[in-house]
Amino acid sequence: MDRLRRFVEKRVTTGPASIRTTDAELARLTPAALQAVRDGRAGYTLTRARAFLRFQSRIDSELLNHRVISANGYAAWFSHGEQNEAQLRAFVVQFSVFSNQFLVAQLNKVINADTLEGMRASKEILANELGVTFNKAGNAAVSRAGGYDPDHAGTEGSVQGGLFHFEAGHFEWLWGIAKRIGLEFPQVGHRRNGTPATLRFSDELLRLYGGDNYEISQAASFAVENWAAAGFWKQLIEGFRRYNEKRGTHLPIGFFVWHDRLEAQHARHTQEELEEYYFQTPLAEDAFIRYGNEMLDGVAAFWDGLEEQRLALADAKSSLPSPRPGPIS
Ligand SMILES: [Fe+2]
Ligand SMILES: [Fe+2]
Repeated sequence: MDRLRRFVEKRVTTGPASIRTTDAELARLTPAALQAVRDGRAGYTLTRARAFLRFQSRIDSELLNHRVISANGYAAWFSHGEQNEAQLRAFVVQFSVFSNQFLVAQLNKVINADTLEGMRASKEILANELGVTFNKAGNAAVSRAGGYDPDHAGTEGSVQGGLFHFEAGHFEWLWGIAKRIGLEFPQVGHRRNGTPATLRFSDELLRLYGGDNYEISQAASFAVENWAAAGFWKQLIEGFRRYNEKRGTHLPIGFFVWHDRLEAQHARHTQEELEEYYFQTPLAEDAFIRYGNEMLDGVAAFWDGLEEQRLALADAKSSLPSPRPGPIS
């Protein structure tokens, strides 16, 4: 952050006089937006820049302070690695349901895109979720005999020209954990295995993130990205590492490690995307904050459901309430 700020300040102080005078406020813009203001790109006026910074303050205090971003109690508990087997299974089942339902929301995001560019950006995510690896010069080959190692999968580049591997589907990484802790295929992934809390989250993703109102979708997307970059992936990784250490198990945690790396990178782009959108499009600020919060309430429902479940399973030995049986798919 400091490096970024120094970079911004340097750019500001070397800019034209009109921009130098406002350096203190403009320093909060990303270098990309600041450069666009300096270049006088269409829409990138000082007035709009100031309006954006006022909006940014509102986002900070009315959206990004949501409890699911600032204080995720379940993730903090998980990080200690003290879960019993039933609690761990319950977590993997709910995460697998969310992971699959996310595909549905993402497909809707593709379909509801307003521009070809937006459609392609959403397809990048969908195709990668399904198993198309990102194609980037310098990415090492990651396909190996007997599987695919997410620890060595790239998080940058494009699915354009990328290779498909069944084993690179994110769901299969989760399944790799699930089968090691005694879960059967019909017990994971399916909607019927989701708790009401997980299904509420999934349905909110579909309604807001994957909905056909572009502005609502943008707000939900911004909220989801900020949640994803809020640090819970690291807490989950830490929890798995400690669990493995304590129990002498070797549960593969590539799913979580890979997503942590990916989201750190997304976080860098999210702010730029919001700015780009704001400078080029009139944006209903109240609605953005309202729908962003609705999305985060849905996210919070998911974690609250996990918390409720882990409390209910605190005394369980190794039994998980049996998920309803179903056909193998
Ligand atoms: Fe994923
Ligand atoms: Fe992301």
